[in-house]
Amino acid sequence: MKKPAKLVVLISGNGSNLQAIIDACANKQLNAEIVGVIANKENAYGLERARKADIPALVKLPLAQQERHEYDADLAKTVAAYQPDWIVLAGWMRILSLAFLKHFPHKVINLHPALPGMFPGTKAIERALADFQAGKIKHTGVMVHLVPDEDIDCGPILNQVNVPIYLEDTLPTLAERVHQAEHQLLIDTLCQLITKNHA
Ligand code: GRF
Repeated sequence: MKKPAKLVVLISGNGSNLQAIIDACANKQLNAEIVGVIANKENAYGLERARKADIPALVKLPLAQQERHEYDADLAKTVAAYQPDWIVLAGWMRILSLAFLKHFPHKVINLHPALPGMFPGTKAIERALADFQAGKIKHTGVMVHLVPDEDIDCGPILNQVNVPIYLEDTLPTLAERVHQAEHQLLIDTLCQLITKNHA
C-alpha cells in the first residue's frame, strides 16, 4: 500500500462533504489522510467534525482592511506547511485569487452543486429549482473541477453527474438529493485522482 495522499480541506459551513471524506478515509475507501481543515468562519460546524475525528482544524478569519491578496498569500503559507497533495474546497465560500492558487497548480479541486456552466456562485440549487419550475431545464447536477484561476465555479472538469428534479420537489428535497450526489461524486473523484497520481 502506498503512503496515503495528504489532503487539506477548506470549509465555510456545515462540512457534510468534509464528513464524507473523513468517513471514506476511515473506512479505507480512500487511501488518504486529512492533514488539516481550515475554515474562514468561526462558527463553521465542519470544525467540530474535524475535531471529533482528531484532525487539526483552524480558523483563518480575514482581518479588517486586509486586502484579498494578502489574506490569500497568508492562507497559502498555512496550507503549504501541511505539504498537501490535494487541496479540497468543500463548501469554501470565498473566491481564491492567484495569490493563493499560483502556489498549488493542478492541486486545488472544487465541488459545485450544479452542472458545468450552470448556476455559478451561490444559491445554485435554488436557482436550478426555479428554472425547472419555469420549464427551462429538465434536471440539474453536480460537478468537481480543478481550480486554475479566479473564475467562479469554472475550470477543467474532473467529474459530473446529473441529478433529477421532480415536480413535487421543494428546496429541501432537491437540496438533499443534490448533497447526496455531491458526497458520492467527491469521494469517487478523490479516489480516481489518488489512484492515478499516487499509484
Ligand atoms: C455544497 O453544496 C458545496 O457544493 C457548496 O456548498 C455546500 C457545502 O456543503 N459549495 P457542506 O458544508 O459540505 O455540507
